[in-house]
Amino acid sequence: MNHTFKPIQPIGIFDSGIGGLTVARAITKLLPNEQIIYFGDTAHMPYGEKSAEAIKHYAIKIAEFLKFKNCKMIVIACNTASAAAYKAVVKSTGMKDLIVNVIDPAVSYVVKNHYRQRVGVIATKRTISSNVYAKRIEALDPVSDVVQLATPLLAPMIEEGFYNNKISQTIINSYLSKSKLSKIDALILGCTHYPLIKDEIQNFYGKAVDIVDSSEIVAQYVKEVLEKNDLLNENKSKLFSLAKKSQFFVSDYTQSFEETSKIFFDEKVKLKQFNIWED
Ligand code: DGL
Repeated sequence: MNHTFKPIQPIGIFDSGIGGLTVARAITKLLPNEQIIYFGDTAHMPYGEKSAEAIKHYAIKIAEFLKFKNCKMIVIACNTASAAAYKAVVKSTGMKDLIVNVIDPAVSYVVKNHYRQRVGVIATKRTISSNVYAKRIEALDPVSDVVQLATPLLAPMIEEGFYNNKISQTIINSYLSKSKLSKIDALILGCTHYPLIKDEIQNFYGKAVDIVDSSEIVAQYVKEVLEKNDLLNENKSKLFSLAKKSQFFVSDYTQSFEETSKIFFDEKVKLKQFNIWED
C-alpha cells in the first residue's frame, strides 16, 4: 500500500458571478471528497458585456488568488472567461493541464456524439462574438455545421428567479424559435447559468435534440484530469469534514447574491466578500 503523504489541496473554481456554482455543484456531486474554493467576481459581472481585455485582466488576478490559496486545479466556470482568458490564465499561472475551461470538454462531447451533425450554441454576446465554439468544433470536425445565437436576456432572467415559469418559457421559446437554430441535432448550453433552464429548453424541442449541459461534462473531465495527475482526494474518513469546508468568495457581497446562490448550488451557500483588487 502506498502511504505517501499527500497534502490536501482544494479545487479552485471561478466565474463572473454565481452562475458558475452550477459547475461547482456538479463537481461536488461527482467528487464529494473534494474541497472547493469558489470565487465569483460579482463586482464586475456581467462579463458577457465586457471587452476581452478587461476579462483577461480580471481572470488573471482571480487565478493568482486561487493559486495563492494552494488550489491544485483551477476551473474557469464561465464560458465568457473561458473564451476570452483561458490562454492568458494558463500562461500566467504556469499550471497548464490543471487549468480547465468549460468549452473544450463540451466541444469534445459534441464532436464524439454528433459528428457531422448540426450543432447549435446559445451563450452571452461576448462568447458568441468570440466564435470560440464554432472554431474549436470545426478544428476537430471540419464538415460540422455550427450555428450560434446570443441570448443575453437569459442569464439576468435566471438570476432574477425567472425560470420554470410561464415568463421564462415564453422568452426561451422566442429565442429558440429563431430560424438560425432550426433543424439542430444538439444544443450546447454555452453559459453556466443555463443548466437551470435545461428542462424548459428540452420541453421546447422534445427528445429530438440533445441538450448539452457542460456542467456535468466538465465535472467528469475534472475527475479524469485529477486521476491522471494523481491528485484525487480519496481517503473519505480523513477528508470528509474537509470537503465540507469549501469556501465561497465574491468580490462584491449582497444579500441578494447570497439568496440567489441557493438556486445554483441546490443548498445554502455562505458567501464571503473578498476584494482582490484592494491593495
Ligand atoms: N457565467 C457567464 C458565462 O458562462 C455568464 C454571465 C456573465 O455574462 O457574466 O458565460
